[in-house]
Amino acid sequence: MSAAAPALPVIVTGASSGIGLETAVGLARAGYRVVATVRDLGRTQALDDAASAAGVELDVRRLDVTDEASVAELVDGVVSAYGGLHGLVNNAGAAHLGTVELDTMDAIRAAFEVNFFGVVAMTRAAMPHLRASSGVVVSISSVGGIVGQPFNEAYCGAKFAVEGFMEGLAPVAATVGVRVVVVEPGAVASAFVANAGVDPQAMIAAAGPYGPAAAGYLARTAGAFANAQSSADAAAVVVSAVVDPATPFRVQTSAVAAGFVGIKLADLDGSAVQALTSSWVATA
Ligand SMILES: NC(=O)c1ccc[n+]([C@@H]2O[C@H](COP(=O)([O-])OP(=O)(O)OC[C@H]3O[C@@H](n4cnc5c(N)ncnc54)[C@H](OP(=O)(O)O)[C@@H]3O)[C@@H](O)[C@H]2O)c1
Repeated sequence: MSAAAPALPVIVTGASSGIGLETAVGLARAGYRVVATVRDLGRTQALDDAASAAGVELDVRRLDVTDEASVAELVDGVVSAYGGLHGLVNNAGAAHLGTVELDTMDAIRAAFEVNFFGVVAMTRAAMPHLRASSGVVVSISSVGGIVGQPFNEAYCGAKFAVEGFMEGLAPVAATVGVRVVVVEPGAVASAFVANAGVDPQAMIAAAGPYGPAAAGYLARTAGAFANAQSSADAAAVVVSAVVDPATPFRVQTSAVAAGFVGIKLADLDGSAVQALTSSWVATA
């Protein structure tokens, strides 16, 4: 462990793949003790392989962020094993494609359970321990936490909620010595899209009056993901947010992501974003 890294661990949620896996390994390489959490302890091969390739050890534990008993068991177990907690990386999340008329309330609620309430539950459980250690909570939002995107209404709603929640918490947490950061990736090459389980042709066929818009959206998204950032590059920004106390509240993981959210952050009446995202679903 490097001299600068704290003795207490950092919990990384959703470490079975993608940004969470790379963040867990990256933090361990930086000398941190890392509790890497997965939903299924039978599916840790990629994480185990990445850790051994990097020559680091991870404490791999089970966690489903949508299950309050699992959240309590994980945080209590980590605190009793290590005597405290230095950091929390709220990374677990899941894509959800749909639009309000075609979605079910259950599907919309499920998108919020993992992407928003899971973040809240973990932060609530961790906060007393982060307060004790003057620690840090880093939440992986998205450019979709700033710019609402077609067919991502529920996903973006949940990520907007993460942004609002964390932006509200940040000054309060600072009064008790806890840093709060949100990280906004754009398109990242991970299992994220595949995990959404969307069959493009089936989605278009089921979209009824929204079929042409869905086709336009899916074609545009395929182009964006063809130029996706690697999970390792996105994770390097997350690791830096944990390590560097000078990290501002909001950071993007690439110049593309920064340019995209910058449109919204300078768009006082919303017209610039509407002009842009309308072009993604233009049917004529
Ligand atoms: N990839 C992108 O383009 C992109 C862009 C912007 C933001 N993000 C955000 O980045 C974060 C990481 O995504 P990723 O790209 O690395 O995708 P990923 O490879 O699909 O990883 C998502 C992780 O979240 C875990 N997870 C899902 N539901 C969970 C639950 N209920 N409890 C605990 N863990 C759960 C998954 O575990 P299982 O293996 O068990 O499913 C997996 O480890 C997410 O918050 C995502 O919204 C991604």
